[in-house]
Amino acid sequence: MARIITRRDFLLMFLGVLGLFSITQLTAAQKQLSRTTSARIKKLSTDKFDNPNSNILLVLWSFHHYNTKKIADVIAETLGAQIKSPPEIKPEDLQRYDLIGFGSGIYHQQHHRSLLDLADNLKEVSGKRTFIFSTSGVSRKFAIKNDIDDPHEVLREKLLSKGCNILGEYNCPGWNTNSFLKLAAGINKFRPNAKDRQRAKEFAEGLKERVKDLAIPFGTTE
Ligand SMILES: Cc1cc2nc3c(=O)[nH]c(=O)nc-3n(C[C@H](O)[C@H](O)[C@H](O)COP(=O)(O)O)c2cc1C
Repeated sequence: MARIITRRDFLLMFLGVLGLFSITQLTAAQKQLSRTTSARIKKLSTDKFDNPNSNILLVLWSFHHYNTKKIADVIAETLGAQIKSPPEIKPEDLQRYDLIGFGSGIYHQQHHRSLLDLADNLKEVSGKRTFIFSTSGVSRKFAIKNDIDDPHEVLREKLLSKGCNILGEYNCPGWNTNSFLKLAAGINKFRPNAKDRQRAKEFAEGLKERVKDLAIPFGTTE
């Protein structure tokens, strides 16, 4: 005899279909994310200021609005540096560079995980010349002034613990539409702006001076 479909059966069927639909959507979203991530990495590395033979490297992660990339481009142009993203480098590759800048957006009040992992995997060095840069929703200056965690602290501590010499740090606000902020066009809409880029240029010029001031000439550090 045919069984009558109860409300419970109907609910179970509905949940089953919903589950199947969610799995399909999730898989499609994961595929899309991996396609976007590789496209983004490609975009970071095919840069018009790329100098493959340079002894200065910028390790960059930038994805939200490419805010940090805008700053990295200015620094790279000023220093004649090469830009690479963390998935393109192994920790041992860093040995050949005389000056290395580590930069990304600030996510959850620290640099991107891929930069922190790279710093964790660095071998001990003695006085490797490095610098740190970032863009963030809340400026680093404001964060420090208002007792919010310094967004550079985690990366700085890791680099120092490996024996790196940090020659300078740069930060400016970046357009942020993360989470609910996207509902109202976000904050810092036009940042980094021309002034931020000018400050980045001066920062990079300052680095050149600092490197000159150091007694050790390029090519003799680890
Ligand atoms: C997932 C996520 C988390 C973020 N967390 C913070 C944060 O903790 N503090 C902050 O000041 N900004 C935060 N921001 C804002 C970014 O630091 C800012 O938009 C930055 O300029 C993004 O750089 P990018 O475009 O190079 O990725 C966050 C943005 C995203 C997307």
